[in-house]
Amino acid sequence: METLTEKILIQKTEDSRLSSETLHNIPFGRIFSDHIFIATYNNGTWQDLKIIPYGNLTMAPAMAVLHYGQAVFEGMKAYKSATVETLIFRPDANFRRINQSAHRLCMPPIPESVFMEGLTELIRLDSGWIPESEGSLYIRPLYFANDEFIGLKPSTHYTFIIMSCPVGAYYSEPVKLIVTDKYIRACEGGTGAAKCAGNYAASLLADKEAKALGYDNVIWLDGVHKKYVEECGTMNLAFVINNVVVTPQLTGTILEGITRDSVLKLFRDQGVEVEERLISIEEVAAAHDQGILQEAFGMGTAATIAQVSKIGYQGRDLVLPPISERKYAPSILEQLEAIKTGKAPDPYNWICKI
Ligand code: COI
Repeated sequence: METLTEKILIQKTEDSRLSSETLHNIPFGRIFSDHIFIATYNNGTWQDLKIIPYGNLTMAPAMAVLHYGQAVFEGMKAYKSATVETLIFRPDANFRRINQSAHRLCMPPIPESVFMEGLTELIRLDSGWIPESEGSLYIRPLYFANDEFIGLKPSTHYTFIIMSCPVGAYYSEPVKLIVTDKYIRACEGGTGAAKCAGNYAASLLADKEAKALGYDNVIWLDGVHKKYVEECGTMNLAFVINNVVVTPQLTGTILEGITRDSVLKLFRDQGVEVEERLISIEEVAAAHDQGILQEAFGMGTAATIAQVSKIGYQGRDLVLPPISERKYAPSILEQLEAIKTGKAPDPYNWICKI
């Protein structure tokens, strides 16, 4: 990692919002830690690196991101170990992915030193916000265009921010998903693999319609045949069929999930058969009807591993076996949480201690 030549200026808050109550029963994404890291890119140089109290930003109405959506982001989590060390899960993978997303949106790469040192300094300063049990500190890096210009072109000014919030579960219950073929999330050559704001904005109408029908979210199908399972929008998906973990392959149209990658590694290393391939929704329905669809689950940073309880498809519900009868996803969730919190060894070097 190149080292940062510019010092990060730290302006500490004099009025911390952290109290003993803050870290209990935490809703996802509504409470924010005391500080943010912010860096600006101006015509080829990264500058003005600072940590400041969490607060509003000023922006011009003509700010490019507001018009054309040149914005990417990430999600990662920090945990406290039993010895109260701060552990961040796979930040190197998030660093790589934000730059892949940035490349797709024609944004300059963020230097590793800006990302890693900004992250480290911020989380050290706000480490008191990491829940010590049942929860984690969700870290949200975001990166957007801020030219004051409404002609369509890549910006020459950008802002990179890291903010964080203590969180509990994203889904507190097993999720109910419904297959949509009315809308598509991504097509080959599009932005499906990028973690860009526009992908999430474009998912909201389908999500709203799913909720109106009593489901939590949708299962997206491929944009060409409307046949193959892609992802859920908040997380990647996997199915256990006849003791084989089957998950959609990375074709460039789905997010290359870091939780997905971690889960598949753990399964494989334990001798569980894993298949990354095209999986049609018809195959999932047929497996359900034959009684060999043992589990379905989502994988994401916010969601961790979320059990799927039913899948709405063609006017009926494919009801999955009760959670108590499942063994694959619950066991891998436990193992993953143990690694993340330092309770189990970390043979993959996933943990960054700060
Ligand atoms: C994450 O899992 O980190 C995400 O960004 C998903 C988002 C819907 C919360």
